[in-house]
Amino acid sequence: MDQLISRIEHEMENAFAQAGYDAALGKVTLSNRPDLCEYQCNGAMAGAKKYHKAPIQIAQEVAETLKENPAFEEVDAVKPGFINLKVRGAFLGSYLQEMKEDPALSVGKASKPGKIIIDYGGANVAKPLHVGHLRSAVIGESVKRILRKVGHEVIGDVHLGDWGLQMGLIITELKHRQPELVYFDPEYSGEYPSEAPFTISELEEIYPAASARSKTDAQYKEEAMAATFELQHGNRGYLALWQHILDVSIRDLKKNYGNLMVDFDLWKKESDAQPYIPDMVQRLKDEGYAHLDQGALVVDVKEEGDTKEIPPCMILKSDGSSLYNTTDLATLVMRRQLYDPDEVIYVVDKRQELYFTQVFRCARKTQIVKEDTRLEFLGFGTMNGKDGRPFKTRDGGVMRLEHLIADIGEEMYRKITENHETDPDEARETAKIVALSALKYGDLSNQASKDYIFDIDKFTSFEGNTGPYILYTIVRIKSILNKYTEAGGDVKTARIGNNPSPSEKELMIRLSGYGDCVALAARELAPHKLCSYIYELANAFNHFYHETRILSETDEDRRRELIALIDLTREVLEDAIDLLGFTAPERM
Ligand code: ARG
Repeated sequence: MDQLISRIEHEMENAFAQAGYDAALGKVTLSNRPDLCEYQCNGAMAGAKKYHKAPIQIAQEVAETLKENPAFEEVDAVKPGFINLKVRGAFLGSYLQEMKEDPALSVGKASKPGKIIIDYGGANVAKPLHVGHLRSAVIGESVKRILRKVGHEVIGDVHLGDWGLQMGLIITELKHRQPELVYFDPEYSGEYPSEAPFTISELEEIYPAASARSKTDAQYKEEAMAATFELQHGNRGYLALWQHILDVSIRDLKKNYGNLMVDFDLWKKESDAQPYIPDMVQRLKDEGYAHLDQGALVVDVKEEGDTKEIPPCMILKSDGSSLYNTTDLATLVMRRQLYDPDEVIYVVDKRQELYFTQVFRCARKTQIVKEDTRLEFLGFGTMNGKDGRPFKTRDGGVMRLEHLIADIGEEMYRKITENHETDPDEARETAKIVALSALKYGDLSNQASKDYIFDIDKFTSFEGNTGPYILYTIVRIKSILNKYTEAGGDVKTARIGNNPSPSEKELMIRLSGYGDCVALAARELAPHKLCSYIYELANAFNHFYHETRILSETDEDRRRELIALIDLTREVLEDAIDLLGFTAPERM
């Protein structure tokens, strides 16, 4: 269905035409002076020059034609030439009733739906998930849901890091600890055991130990690099170990991402791109794109008009081994062959921006992607602690995501049980749901590219611009609706009214902007726009709630109208938080 603002605009365009002016002048925006009007049109200002007339005169002529228009309650031409608009309750009410009957809640489809791959999550196998991976998962998941909502076909790919030095480090550390393992016997030609020789907790201890040792022990690091090289060149025992590491680690990652309500369509890994490398490299050489530079194979990617130096994109190191770049380029080759996407979006730490500039330019120049394939870098800032430095544990270590989630869960549980008696099991369950909203909303309400401060007290507060406040509002509405139903009312058949009070009208106007807001969030890949929208909507609801008797309203028809309105408010809020990637509990 169309947007309310387009309907208003349509009326204005007709009015301009009827008064003898260009219809295109009838652009309408939400008012930036809500004390004076609800919507405004500045077309008379824009037309003044063209028609050699004072803007106020044009505005008056246009306003005159709208006198009898059923859409408007008030049309004021004000100096120097604005047209201030107030819509009629019935116009708004019938729009919202349509919206209520629309399964998409007025959210429209993109004009050009496409196939989009989102590369997000990006965890590294065998390394515990830490808060640095949180943002990618949270933002990527929301962007995926928003793009799907507006009709794109979206494929989320976790693109696990499983092909780097961390693998060689773990293999080396295992070899030091358990040299007798069959994986290290070069003579062995039989089948390898199906059970991994370690558990996830052992694995999580092995990697940091190996990584720490490699920083002080040069020979050890050499060994790890050699092991990585051998793994990448087909050492059977190492490949078998690598498979164990993958299995154990992915099982754990699935659980952790699951707890975050983050869910990938593809569990592809860097290693999956490796088979595509030889042909790709050969073609880059054959077609003259790549050249040798101090032994390394590179593609120049600088362009005219660059204001800063963009170094060449390195394809192979001088020893012939591949790099992070090579893998990302080969992944694009693979994605084109398997999925042929129109667009690929990377949700990655913004410190990798230059790197992605190189990769994108190289992919385009060498025609790894088709000419019209869009490559988009959605870079995010750092999550900092209250001291303004990257978030750490109390003793200064890297914070594990699991622990962070547990901390927020505890804090939420404390707050939920603080004020009233609740069943402990139910309170735990509720705390989990609310904690996820605190974590995700705290992140998503900031523009992705900005750094933000993780403030547990603020994020878990039931007041202010937080996830728990939004959930609290939803739960409040649910509780009214439940009481109405218990008293024999039927929420489903209730219809929106046509004579709103001022706070009710304000709520109605907010609700009518939902479709536009989702479209904007999708176009700009900006979940934070959706957060601001629902925050304003929740505020408008709470204001209305404090000024209105709902269940105690004695006029039954009027009561039913109010119920219809708050039910639509609940639907929109729940739809929006689903796009952000969390849910609301029944009670809290
Ligand atoms: N695993 C990488 C990291 O931890 C992130 C991967 C980002 N995606 C990509 N296609 N390079 O830094």
